[in-house]
Amino acid sequence: MIWKRHPIIKNSKEIEILRRANGILMEILFTIKEEVKPGKCTYEFEEMALELCEKKKVIPAFKGYRGYPYALCVSVNEEIVHGMPRRDKVLKEGDIVSFDFGVIYEGYVGDAAITVGVGTISSIAERLLKTTEEALYLAIEKARIGNKIGDISYAIQSRAEREGFSVIRDFVGHGVGRSLHEPPEIPNYGKPGRGPKLEAGMVLAIEPMVAVGSHEVKILEDGWTAVTKDGSLSAHFEHSVAITPSGPLILSSL
Ligand code: MF3
Ligand code: CO
Repeated sequence: MIWKRHPIIKNSKEIEILRRANGILMEILFTIKEEVKPGKCTYEFEEMALELCEKKKVIPAFKGYRGYPYALCVSVNEEIVHGMPRRDKVLKEGDIVSFDFGVIYEGYVGDAAITVGVGTISSIAERLLKTTEEALYLAIEKARIGNKIGDISYAIQSRAEREGFSVIRDFVGHGVGRSLHEPPEIPNYGKPGRGPKLEAGMVLAIEPMVAVGSHEVKILEDGWTAVTKDGSLSAHFEHSVAITPSGPLILSSL
């Protein structure tokens, strides 16, 4: 099958649609976040996501994507990404849970992720969340015309490693637009000044995944859920960001 390629440079009209797609996505994500508490199973959030997509007239972008069966990815503790919602996976106090979500609005894809604590979490978990989110914002700061993808990658890696944590290498950020995954790839590790040049009109899904222990990954028998091989905690934050003449524009903000 030949996949239709989409131009990686978007005009201001397209960026406006992507901003709306991501805005609706974030409304849903924060409604879900409000419901995080001990005793909830991860499938309840899938049900919420589906319901809210219907209400807000957007299409879940992940459901059916390369055979992924759900609207939402819900990854708990050592799960890094692509955790499948489950009735028998129940949240408990001290867990950290990441929600990765995508919607299609007027033919354009919004993509973002957050990680939140369940009740009171350990100080190491707290530090992991703070570090991963900070890495994302430091990376966004590099999403400027004339910079390179490597500048984004390096910002993420250096922030995570300064804390003694490691960045996951098996998954990357990406361009996003009419398709969920467009060029260029954005590794979460790399060297400044390397890789493709950033241009006005690029829209990038920047998504650091950070683990307390080693960066090695294992995929569970369900074929999707990616976990840390050493069982250490992992966090994930993602924003869709447009590169504009006036600097980085976070599309996935409320
Ligand atoms: N948000 C994730 C990404 O950016 C992906 C979801 S993969 C899917 O790559 F298969 F679940 F859709
Ligand atoms: Co993404």
